[in-house]
Amino acid sequence: MYMPILPDIAPYINSLKSRFMALLPILHYPDPRLHMRASVVDRVDADIRQLAADMSETMYAAPGIGLAATQVNRHVRVIVIDVSEDRSQLLTFINPELIEKSGECEGEEGCLSVPGIYETVKRAAQVKVRALNVEGETFELDATDLLAVCIQHEMDHLDGKVFVEYLSRLKQTRIKAKLVKQSRETF
Ligand code: NI
Repeated sequence: MYMPILPDIAPYINSLKSRFMALLPILHYPDPRLHMRASVVDRVDADIRQLAADMSETMYAAPGIGLAATQVNRHVRVIVIDVSEDRSQLLTFINPELIEKSGECEGEEGCLSVPGIYETVKRAAQVKVRALNVEGETFELDATDLLAVCIQHEMDHLDGKVFVEYLSRLKQTRIKAKLVKQSRETF
């Protein structure tokens, strides 16, 4: 009996959903606000849940596979990640901590705050992370490969670190110059 109704209400649910979420502007390197250290979230309340929802919306729209609150100029320890092919496995980490890391891997990384730049960075190949979810419950997750790299990349943002800072001074200077030029051309 409910089945015929479902397709009709689907667009309504989608429009409701988008009304309560917002796309947030993303800071671009070398914006000094990307180097601020994010504070610990002491209570997972409606404001933090809204931030996490807006961040996931912003990440999917970009499109990206991870986003840290620092990148949207909110300096609290919240990150969202989805490395799945069909964009169906959203992970939200509040106050994430790396409790184990092992191995080493090297892969090309990019960042929504450093558009158009892809560089190889050395990271731990496996990590175990402990965090709170949007319900404020503690969980632990073992991650490898792309997910492990993404967690480390996003957690760096919370400490004010952008991935280009792993590169040589010369490369950093070149990237900075390129992005400053790009931003001038945009305005
Ligand atoms: Ni990034």
